Amino acid sequence: MTHKENALLTLVTLLSWSFLYAALICRGTPTALEVGVSLQLECLFTPDSTSNVTYPSSVKLLHSNSTTNPSYIDLLTVVNVDNIVGDLSNSPNIKVYGTIGNTKLSYLRISWESPKLENAGAYRCVTYGVDKKGNPQFDLSETTVSVKNPNDKCQGNDAKNTTESTKSKGVKQDLLTKAQNSMFTTSPEFKGSRYLLPKTKGSKNFLDSILTCGQLGGYFAEIDSKEEYNFVLNSLLSSSTYQIVYISGTDEGKEGVWVHSFSKTNLTFFKWAKGEPNLGKRENCMAYHKKLLWLFVDIDCTKLLTFDGTVSFVCEVPE
Ligand SMILES: *[C@@H]1O[C@H](CO)[C@@H](O)[C@H](O)[C@H]1NC(C)=O
Ligand SMILES: *[C@@H]1O[C@H](CO)[C@@H](O)[C@H](O)[C@H]1NC(C)=O
Ligand SMILES: *[C@@H]1O[C@H](CO)[C@@H](O)[C@H](O)[C@H]1NC(C)=O
Ligand SMILES: *[C@@H]1O[C@H](CO)[C@@H](O)[C@H](O)[C@H]1NC(C)=O
Repeated sequence: MTHKENALLTLVTLLSWSFLYAALICRGTPTALEVGVSLQLECLFTPDSTSNVTYPSSVKLLHSNSTTNPSYIDLLTVVNVDNIVGDLSNSPNIKVYGTIGNTKLSYLRISWESPKLENAGAYRCVTYGVDKKGNPQFDLSETTVSVKNPNDKCQGNDAKNTTESTKSKGVKQDLLTKAQNSMFTTSPEFKGSRYLLPKTKGSKNFLDSILTCGQLGGYFAEIDSKEEYNFVLNSLLSSSTYQIVYISGTDEGKEGVWVHSFSKTNLTFFKWAKGEPNLGKRENCMAYHKKLLWLFVDIDCTKLLTFDGTVSFVCEVPE
């Protein structure tokens, strides 16, 4: 797509956007498919007070042949400007556009010049990202595309199980490879877990590393013993340039009662720096602090998203 086309597309999208009021719109144009008439599917996302996601990181479009008993398969995901992933290689008459705008509009659009009956069905848009506190969140919106000629039935073909599991396996493998190669510094195994420290720079990459941690089956590291504390410190933190590194542990629910958000267990191990925790209700998260000899501090949960390259987190991934 040329620069000009891109600008035009954005303008058109923005104009149509101003008439809509939900944070995430999933829509098909036309809503009833006619063979020979091009079909367009769009996911349009703008964070607002109704959306779960404040900082989007990817937008995904899924499709199900069946509308009555939907079984969705991934069509496309936009994870960056000009970085659209998905398997549509067998279809030459398809155009895809997409972008992630961190605070403004994000969109994903796919158009079929000559759609087939199998393009009808249910569509689902999902925006993945994090909220203001850095918790992984998603927004979801759905639409259906029917078939204009009621004699052209195309329902009842549920997505194949095998297709779905092969795809998700591929995605997980991609993520693992990506994680190990570029996104994280990875520790050796320690008591059944690996620990990952992001090496990302910039807000979007940092948000991606939070989401990828979850997609890998991980969570903010739950430091439950002196050995684990030392292992994370020695294998990842002591050689890093970060100042503040978040781990699991919050007393948001009840002041002074520290809980692991993922495992929902009470913390039993603390390695507070002198005078910590010190700011009660204003600081409900936990982090290693370099200037305090890598001891723990309580800290404002939202500081995780400062994006200035001094703040990070440790992800724990069980094997
Ligand atoms: C927000 O997230 C919840 C699940 O955590 C989900 O059920 C709900 O549909 C989401 N809201 C939107 C607008 O997608
Ligand atoms: C929908 O069903 C058709 C067969 O009718 C199949 O070729 C196609 O791959 C299916 N598409 C999806 C997305 O499941
Ligand atoms: C998909 O596979 C699971 C087990 O792998 C099976 O229980 C389920 O019935 C299958 N669903 C369909 C629609 O074939
Ligand atoms: C966690 O600690 C609080 C306060 O000490 C207690 O009320 C709660 O029952 C504990 N939860 C678990 C799961 O042990």
